Amino acid sequence: MSNIDLDKYFKPNLKEARRRTKDVIEELKFELSDAHQKIGVNKTYMIHTYGCQGNEADSESIAGILELMGFTHATSEAQSDVIIMNTCAIRENAENRVWGELGRLKAYKKHNPNLILGLAGCMAQEENVIERILKKYQHVDIVFGTHNIYKLPEYLETALFSKERVIEVYSQEGEIVENLPKVRNHKFKAWVNIMFGCDEFCTYCIVPYTRGKERSRSKDEIIAEVNELVEQGYKEITLLGQNVNAYGKDLDDSSYTFGDLLKELDDLGIERIRFTTSHPHDLDKKTMEAMRDSKHVMPYFHLPVQSGSNTVLKKMNRQYTKESYLKVLDELKNTVPGIAVTTDIIVGFPGETDTDFLDTLDLVEKAEFEGAFTFVFSKREGTPAANFTDDTPIETKKERLYMLNDRTNAGYLKGNQRFVGETVKVLVDGVSKNNDQVLAGYSEHNKLVNFAGDKSLIGQIVKVKITVAKTWFLLGELL
Ligand code: SAH
Ligand code: SF4
Ligand code: F3S
Repeated sequence: MSNIDLDKYFKPNLKEARRRTKDVIEELKFELSDAHQKIGVNKTYMIHTYGCQGNEADSESIAGILELMGFTHATSEAQSDVIIMNTCAIRENAENRVWGELGRLKAYKKHNPNLILGLAGCMAQEENVIERILKKYQHVDIVFGTHNIYKLPEYLETALFSKERVIEVYSQEGEIVENLPKVRNHKFKAWVNIMFGCDEFCTYCIVPYTRGKERSRSKDEIIAEVNELVEQGYKEITLLGQNVNAYGKDLDDSSYTFGDLLKELDDLGIERIRFTTSHPHDLDKKTMEAMRDSKHVMPYFHLPVQSGSNTVLKKMNRQYTKESYLKVLDELKNTVPGIAVTTDIIVGFPGETDTDFLDTLDLVEKAEFEGAFTFVFSKREGTPAANFTDDTPIETKKERLYMLNDRTNAGYLKGNQRFVGETVKVLVDGVSKNNDQVLAGYSEHNKLVNFAGDKSLIGQIVKVKITVAKTWFLLGELL
């Protein structure tokens, strides 16, 4: 028998996490209490972030809270007093990386017994993860989920001063917490959350369980944040949500939708507006027209399709067909001429046959995607698809993935080739990974562009004439 009192922990419950009520979402305002102001003075932190942009944005808030408490960023893991792992649960391999890292980090506790190791993010929202932490990862001091980042000061106080382990995960619909401090990772590109959670319940996906119900931030808060970013000299924002096209549906004035928000943000003086992610089922004409009529919304769209087989789409609960997807896509391409479209595709969904897969290949051909993130289905405990019969051998699934990648890579190349000889505008990100004489940045269509230029151009939007198209990037000359 273990002598740990397991009941003192708030553990996740996937059934609870699935519940959706009509309750009004509470808006909280973060404030650091006096007692927590100086806890981090002379201490350092590090955050390791996995998963999507939503997690990257959360890590900026975690950093913001830590710095407000007096912590400074550590120069190495060995020097850190606090290490937080902000994790992702989307696929098994994402989780395996975190388990490996948690094992590796244990060694640092030997050198520094005061090191606080924290696990946050979507993995913390899973029942089996918490069980495993309790049984095998005694060296993890703090576990908190996606709903209670704002309580980190309390947890650190407990771990540091009472030397008690904290495990507190809420399986709830979630609130909206405003006023969270942020240490942004980038000086001229910023994430802006416009909504949280997801109500789509695609049968393979863990996100609706880990992130709670779909809830939109008030447009006033969003506009205030963007205005502040403009003042600080930011050039590009990316609006974040699991399903941005559902923005506003839960607000009092449900006639104000994502398209309206885009229109309003277009006038605030930010150079580039991007957003992710969109659900085909909620993508409407108003959004497309807002993109067409705006000056600053970029001609790029990530529109995950997941599969081209109607049987599979139905089992995935995606609420569209191959035909209706292609119709929406057509409408989008006609409304915003030249727009670049990328997608996400899952192969090897339970029961996917060769014919289903051929339907996906056919859709890829017809849709002319200019890029795709492709995945082999990964079983997520607690989701409906985890109970579907899955008798396709993993070798077959991998073969499908390779075959699919050949097609989507051809789409990448074709999408890049259309810019050869053209002049594109590039927001210069930094120097190229392989050669520091070469600058790298993204064009309006979200194409990676490399060209020779001076480092002083970093953070600026410059014109580049494209000379060569490769599969993964474009080469050009600065004008
Ligand atoms: N809300 C976003 C995406 C979130 S996850 C959207 O719907 O577009 C990003 C991608 O991961 C998904 O689009 C899907 O292709 C993939 N994914 C999600 N769950 C998965 C699973 N269980 N196995 C494999 N891929 C998965
Ligand atoms: Fe997951 Fe579907 Fe929601 Fe995207 S829309 S986060 S795939 S449930
Ligand atoms: Fe991963 Fe959670 Fe994002 S599962 S993809 S970090 S919403």
